[in-house]
Amino acid sequence: MRVASTDANRPPADQASPVYVWDLPTRLFHWSLAILVVATFVAAKIGGNAMVWHGRIGLAILGLLVFRIVWGLVGSTYARFTQFVRGPTGIRVYLSGQWQGLGHNPLGALSVLALLGVLLLQVASGLFANDDIAFEGYLVPLISSATSGDFTGIHRLLENALLLLVAAHVGAIIYYASVKKRNLVRPMLTGWDAGNPGQSATGGGLFALLLAVLIAGLAVWAASGALLPPPPPVIPSTAPTW
Ligand code: HEM
Ligand code: HEM
Repeated sequence: MRVASTDANRPPADQASPVYVWDLPTRLFHWSLAILVVATFVAAKIGGNAMVWHGRIGLAILGLLVFRIVWGLVGSTYARFTQFVRGPTGIRVYLSGQWQGLGHNPLGALSVLALLGVLLLQVASGLFANDDIAFEGYLVPLISSATSGDFTGIHRLLENALLLLVAAHVGAIIYYASVKKRNLVRPMLTGWDAGNPGQSATGGGLFALLLAVLIAGLAVWAASGALLPPPPPVIPSTAPTW
């Protein structure tokens, strides 16, 4: 199976010489991530019993993030970090209006890295956080309750950073559509970009996909606390109940 350009992924008829940019795994990753981040936020705000779902969805987000990191190494052309992570020179070229390319632009790449980084920190801190009531992250048994309190503080602080980044991200997409007349959403939905000339994505075959899924699955398994020793059995009290 090829997850890059295939016959099944024909370009929409109204696009002139489109190029296949975003492979299916990258697109599935993106839209699942957007939906799950909103869902886990809502669950956290509801609180109470919904915290169980907050944690479960958070674990799924961890799986997506680990998948994307591996896919950034072994995925198809424009999904690779080496393709879109540029130094200050690339950003300067972009800001001077001379950048021409496909995939994430050098500045957009910074926001992608920031989003991925903050989400990773959010999940990592959540695994060690507690809500002071009935829910705690799956790895809390590894640390003291004071340290868990510190992680809870970090988890709350990161909420604001994440909100800012998502607002800037969606703002940039709207800016591109309304001012620069460039629709970035369609390529993220269909895979095809008609904006700039270039080569369609290649690479990121079935083996790479299985590898990324396997590593992501292992990360979720370990983060769910599966490697922790089982909690000691609860010894029933022999004292009379009156
Ligand atoms: C919580 C919500 C969201 C998060 C966390 C998020 C995160 C991300 C991430 C990490 C990427 C990089 C994709 C990759 O290379 O794998 C990305 C790209 C992108 N996102 Fe989102 N996203 C969110 C919501 C949205 C929404 C609502 C839209 C549409 C209005 C959108 C449109 C896009 C587009 C078009 C790109 C590609 C940008 C480009 O061409 O450089 N995102 N997003
Ligand atoms: C990207 C994923 C995550 C996001 C966006 C997120 C976001 C949030 C938000 C917004 C809150 C509410 C803070 C407040 O009260 O205002 C919260 C609380 C909490 N989250 Fe997460 N979280 C994520 C992942 C996780 C994970 C994986 C766990 C653990 C399994 C976790 C455990 C907790 C706990 C224990 C609280 C309660 C802390 C408190 O009482 O302030 N979170 N999270």
